[in-house]
Amino acid sequence: MKIYVYGTGCGAGDLADEALSPARIEAFVGRESGGAFLGRPVISLEELAGRGFDLLIVASRDAEGVERDCLRLGIDPGKLLFLKNHVSAVDRNRSYDTARAVLGDAYVERLIGSERLIRVPLWTQEERIAGEGSDNDYVRLKTLEAICLRLAAVPGAAAELGVYRGGFARWINALLPERRLYLFDTFEGFDPAESAGEGSGFTEAHRNTSAGRVLAALPHPERAVLCPGLFPQTAEGLEERFALVSLDADLEESTLAGLRFFLPRMSAGAYVLLHDYSNPKLGGVKRALERFEAECGRLAAVPLCDVNGTLVIAC
Ligand SMILES: C[S@@+](CC[C@H](N)C(=O)[O-])C[C@H]1O[C@@H](n2cnc3c(N)ncnc32)[C@H](O)[C@@H]1O
Repeated sequence: MKIYVYGTGCGAGDLADEALSPARIEAFVGRESGGAFLGRPVISLEELAGRGFDLLIVASRDAEGVERDCLRLGIDPGKLLFLKNHVSAVDRNRSYDTARAVLGDAYVERLIGSERLIRVPLWTQEERIAGEGSDNDYVRLKTLEAICLRLAAVPGAAAELGVYRGGFARWINALLPERRLYLFDTFEGFDPAESAGEGSGFTEAHRNTSAGRVLAALPHPERAVLCPGLFPQTAEGLEERFALVSLDADLEESTLAGLRFFLPRMSAGAYVLLHDYSNPKLGGVKRALERFEAECGRLAAVPLCDVNGTLVIAC
């Protein structure tokens, strides 16, 4: 089998170290021909196009550009295997069959699992949590995972204000299985008076839930304390310290009430995740934070580049 590798950088080097001995590579392919890499000749893409070959493994990050050049030169895209596929939400690789034969199943499985839209962080190759279905906000979930790893020595319970069906709460519950998890919601959608300023579709979309549905979503439901009804009344008399709080109530007044209730009750080293802080569709969340900071002073916080623009507040 005639195998070529596009690229003469770290990607090609890693490939040779991990899965493909240079002896099995006819040549490396670069922008220009000439010289050698790992003892093999380096040729140009134009030269490759004139040769017969079985597989071109593209180890360059510029997957899009290499694919375009290959198509221009009449190279069969079915013969390309992109190792750096993450710049596209759509998998560029037409097939993994030849790759499996050349690189082995284990390598190819890792490739498929790690090179998605976002590369898997080095600190967690093991996928404890990864977005799936409607929770597919990879940055949000991975940030939660990283934060939970820092909480070992921080005392306190976990809580979420704004639970809906428990889509995020279940990950808090999975990552902090020893902690009590307070869940504040009506469990039947927004109070119509509170969400009057939002669209009817928004209000309608959040009705379809229940306390039972939330409990069924949790891996450790015995740790959950459901607080049904309107917050902050449902928190009256609660004496607790918190290590992790997710504020996801969408609305300005509910969010402000959440900040006022939880921030004074956070342990040193704890975190609050303020969902939708940068979300232009839910401007009340940012206004609530601005009102809180006007009352209590500026918070130490980092905005995330997750889908809905969470703000991570360090306490
Ligand atoms: C966007 S949803 C929460 C989504 C959930 N955190 C997730 O990630 O899947 C917002 C929720 O906040 C709740 N909520 C908003 N204001 C509230 C209040 N004052 N009291 C109780 N629940 C409230 C609504 O009932 C709704 O279920």
